[in-house]
Amino acid sequence: MRAPLQNAEPNSNRHLANKTVHVKSYGCQMNVYDASRMGDVLAPLGYVNDPDMFAADLVILNTCHIREKAAEKVYSELGRLRVEKESRADSERPMVIAVGGCVAQAEGEEILRRAPYVDMVFGPQTYHRLPLMLRTLAQRGEAVVDTDFPADDKFDALPDVQPDGAAAFLTIQEGCDKFCTFCVVPYTRGAEFSRPVDPVLREARLLAGKGVREITLLGQNVNAYHGDNGNGDELTLGRLIRKLADVEGIERIRYTTSYPAEVDDDLISAHRDVPALMPYLHLPVQSGSDKILKAMNRRHSSGDYKDIVRRLRDAQPDLALSSDFIVGFPGETDADFQATLDLVQSVGFVQAYSFKYSPRPGTPAADMDDQIPEAVKSARLQLLQDLLNRQQIAFNESCVGRDLPVLFDRPGARPGQLVGRSPYMQAVHADAPADRMGEIITVRIDRAKPNSLSGTIRPIGADASSNAKREVVA
Ligand code: 5AD
Ligand code: SF4
Repeated sequence: MRAPLQNAEPNSNRHLANKTVHVKSYGCQMNVYDASRMGDVLAPLGYVNDPDMFAADLVILNTCHIREKAAEKVYSELGRLRVEKESRADSERPMVIAVGGCVAQAEGEEILRRAPYVDMVFGPQTYHRLPLMLRTLAQRGEAVVDTDFPADDKFDALPDVQPDGAAAFLTIQEGCDKFCTFCVVPYTRGAEFSRPVDPVLREARLLAGKGVREITLLGQNVNAYHGDNGNGDELTLGRLIRKLADVEGIERIRYTTSYPAEVDDDLISAHRDVPALMPYLHLPVQSGSDKILKAMNRRHSSGDYKDIVRRLRDAQPDLALSSDFIVGFPGETDADFQATLDLVQSVGFVQAYSFKYSPRPGTPAADMDDQIPEAVKSARLQLLQDLLNRQQIAFNESCVGRDLPVLFDRPGARPGQLVGRSPYMQAVHADAPADRMGEIITVRIDRAKPNSLSGTIRPIGADASSNAKREVVA
């Protein structure tokens, strides 16, 4: 799922007409999708991908604003790019530097004040206008800033998607109206918007026609999806998933990221009825303390969360869960943190992302009393991550001896080896002929590591459903 542009030949005599671009993405999968769509927009202009950022004609930093560390990385990267840009100032191939994504959306002109050598600043809703921005830059010779939330549909303006493997992202929803008090997303990505059903199905068919077997439906609040069905009706995510499962060639469907309070009966029944819907769900909970969840404006208690998980598991007993956690939110006591550890133990997450709370300018939590000292945040994060890691390892070990269907989508580190994904998103390594890339193959899992599995491919016809029973991770 890299940017789909063709790579430039490493040492070829590059033709001046063939310009090169390097898009560096930070943050979430939505940014990875956006980066690959930027590639699709630039390809008709003759841009090919350059894996070497410092050699490219056009460098785009596709930024993330979610935590302070992510946002600050942009400025250190810009400092390094500045040196290269200045050294090429009088050459035939001057460097154009662009900042896209959520930092660009949040800071706009401020980026030009801090880094005046930047040429273009654009937000997540305007990258379809990159050709226009490049033309304006060339004509006027001054920096271009485009951080509107345009009325025109970005997706209608984008060229056809060009996948580069058997697994692809498909954005179906953007933005967020939930306003969790710690989060910048409602400000950088704007209000919730669902793409209509027809273009989503069209994109899925196009992807399937180009060899894609697994699609991951993306949205900041993907299960708030309510796409226009073209006949005055709207489809929920659960109903959209049923339609996508009928698209020929699509064998696996995933979706991310979900909001617990928006998990509805349609979605739960899709987990029961649609075999293509993978038994793995990323469902951020953030905290196990009801007091903190309230202060976060999460609209669910820890009991609500456990109840949703119970209903999902009633529908799909094999479901593996992953989550996001924030430690050290303002006012979090030892008892609140203990409630998070208790929730982790009772749900039994098999994978998770956990973060120290990072105050973001303009969000309500940044102005709350009782900010937690950095040392306390670090100590809590360590404890939480130790517990989550133990659960992840226990789950991976419980897969040893099972036959799992693996979609192989990249070469391994060793010749003769391929790497793919299990239904539960684990990376699986196995010896397999290169021409089986892009296929779903049954693998007998032999070994578990903290972050991956390895195994032996089973003869064609071996039955992946004859799994040794998986231990329940408590
Ligand atoms: N500080 C720390 N983590 C945050 N997240 C979002 N905002 C913040 C913040 N201000 C985390 C949440 C979210 C994930 C994408 O990033 O856990 O689910
Ligand atoms: Fe941010 Fe909350 Fe919206 Fe998720 S649901 S994007 S955490 S405001």
